[in-house]
Amino acid sequence: MAKIIGAVTTSHIPAIGMAMDNKLEQTPYWKPFFDAYPPVRAWLNEKKPDVVVIFYNDHGLEFFLDRKPTFAIGTAAQYLNADEGWGINTIPPVTGETELSWHIATDLVENEFDITICQEMRVDHGLTVPLSLMWPGHAYGHVKVIPVCINCERYPMPTPARCFKLGQAIGRAIESFDQDLNVVLFGTGGLSHQLDGERAGFINREFDIDCMNKIVTAPEELTKLSNYDLMEIGGAQGVELNMWLAMRGALTGNITELHRNYHAPISNTGAGLLLLEHEH
Ligand code: DHB
Ligand code: FE
Repeated sequence: MAKIIGAVTTSHIPAIGMAMDNKLEQTPYWKPFFDAYPPVRAWLNEKKPDVVVIFYNDHGLEFFLDRKPTFAIGTAAQYLNADEGWGINTIPPVTGETELSWHIATDLVENEFDITICQEMRVDHGLTVPLSLMWPGHAYGHVKVIPVCINCERYPMPTPARCFKLGQAIGRAIESFDQDLNVVLFGTGGLSHQLDGERAGFINREFDIDCMNKIVTAPEELTKLSNYDLMEIGGAQGVELNMWLAMRGALTGNITELHRNYHAPISNTGAGLLLLEHEH
């Protein structure tokens, strides 16, 4: 059977990709951020997951304001990246996974989660920056990726509670798949940030640390928040916490926190990194 062996949360901001493109990792600004990643890379290289399910939000590359699925999943054999206008180099094609992704998609629709199924989709920085961070030098080709995309750009957006339930349904679907695969989950984005308007640059460190603690030990408490709460407390783009909540919903067994880092600001954002091991 497929097994979820762990999960990683990480920031996905475009400036991280640009810093890697320009080899700025050891400059004073970036060092406290990048120095937190080697233990996570080492864990991934040791555990060698067959599949990574990535919960992320598409910022307009594939789904713009005219067509916005609330939830979408990719079932393609390959995903292409493209220029989003942020100045990051585009990355080589990402390998997809066609059997487990179809199993998840089918299971969700049969169990009242009407997710949009994408047999072709371009993947944006929400997915590509975390891949580049975990496997520098674009060394991710051997990992099969299943993109799960959650709307947090355009009103109306799914609530934190609903995103958590999506994760629970995806967790059940993964663990009912009859191939022996090791699966790791990524939840990308967050934590507090606001990119526009009067509060542009707003960051709430206390809230970010509280979110990191509760994601590990009491995620149900975070599901009581509304998206309005998240925007007020964590900035307009603080709703990206929903990606972390969906990821966390899929972890129904015992989890052990192996590693964490919090650094702010990186660009306009509080950057939280967590590595969680999962077993039943
Ligand atoms: C930034 C943060 C994001 O989540 C994003 O998608 C783009 C940019 C930033 O802080 O620069
Ligand atoms: Fe984002």
